[in-house]
Amino acid sequence: MNEIPDPNKGPAAGFLPATSPTGQSTAGFGATSTTNDALEGVDLRGQRILVTGVSAGIGVETARALAAHGARVIGAARNLDKARAATEPARAQAAPHGGLDLVELDLASLASIRACADGLLATGKPFDLIIANAGVMAAPQGTTADGFETQFGTNHLGHFVLINRLTSLLKPGGRVVSLSSAGHRAADVDLEDPNFERTPYNELTAYRRSKTANILFAMEFDRRHRPGASGQPPSIPARSCPRPPRG
Ligand SMILES: NC(=O)c1ccc[n+]([C@@H]2O[C@H](COP(=O)([O-])OP(=O)(O)OC[C@H]3O[C@@H](n4cnc5c(N)ncnc54)[C@H](OP(=O)(O)O)[C@@H]3O)[C@@H](O)[C@H]2O)c1
Repeated sequence: MNEIPDPNKGPAAGFLPATSPTGQSTAGFGATSTTNDALEGVDLRGQRILVTGVSAGIGVETARALAAHGARVIGAARNLDKARAATEPARAQAAPHGGLDLVELDLASLASIRACADGLLATGKPFDLIIANAGVMAAPQGTTADGFETQFGTNHLGHFVLINRLTSLLKPGGRVVSLSSAGHRAADVDLEDPNFERTPYNELTAYRRSKTANILFAMEFDRRHRPGASGQPPSIPARSCPRPPRG
């Protein structure tokens, strides 16, 4: 996916967290910061983190960086062979207590999402963090296995179902990171015609709608699950990066 947003159109004030989930200051990071910069000196030993979409792009680097800093990463992918090959560096560079396990997840299939969530629930192992990263961009018109428009169905509805099913596994104070995009500014969610049944299909509009939905989901999830008014928000509507950080 190659999406280059306008760097002048940053997130709304207050969207970027002042601190990382570990309480470290995020001040000083910018478009050229790498994952290694962001995690320098951070020890994630004991943290269990679910990352969706670890077979390509940002998800692969996210998994690598987290494991290299000691996190136990559960990487979800629809193509396990592709994910296994892509995440070799994550396994090779994992810190002694860190590591990466893969689970199958096709966000374009509710049956797959339920099976993945059921498998994770059955282990009873809690998560400190869930990173909803996987996504399709500017896909040709199509539908998920359940008949939803592909991008809205995959990027939003898929993560919506997965995360809501896994909420009981989120530790108190745990967080959900939802990867949105600056593209969300260009399209609102259309609840009247989410599947483009009456509106001419446009692949970028469909993507942007799904990214707006990602943010709205994060905000509402935060509102519903925030431990208390003074608690740390469990959910961060992530902004897009002009250049995805590479370690
Ligand atoms: N790159 C950017 O400039 C940019 C900017 C703003 C926001 N974002 C957001 O960042 C996230 C990652 O983007 P990226 O650039 O890393 O994209 P990418 O390189 O295209 O990787 C997307 C990942 O999502 C997975 N995925 C797609 N459909 C899936 C499905 N049905 N079920 C499970 N996994 C699926 C892909 O799996 P396969 O390998 O099987 O296709 C791949 O692992 C997306 O949510 C995107 O909207 C990216």
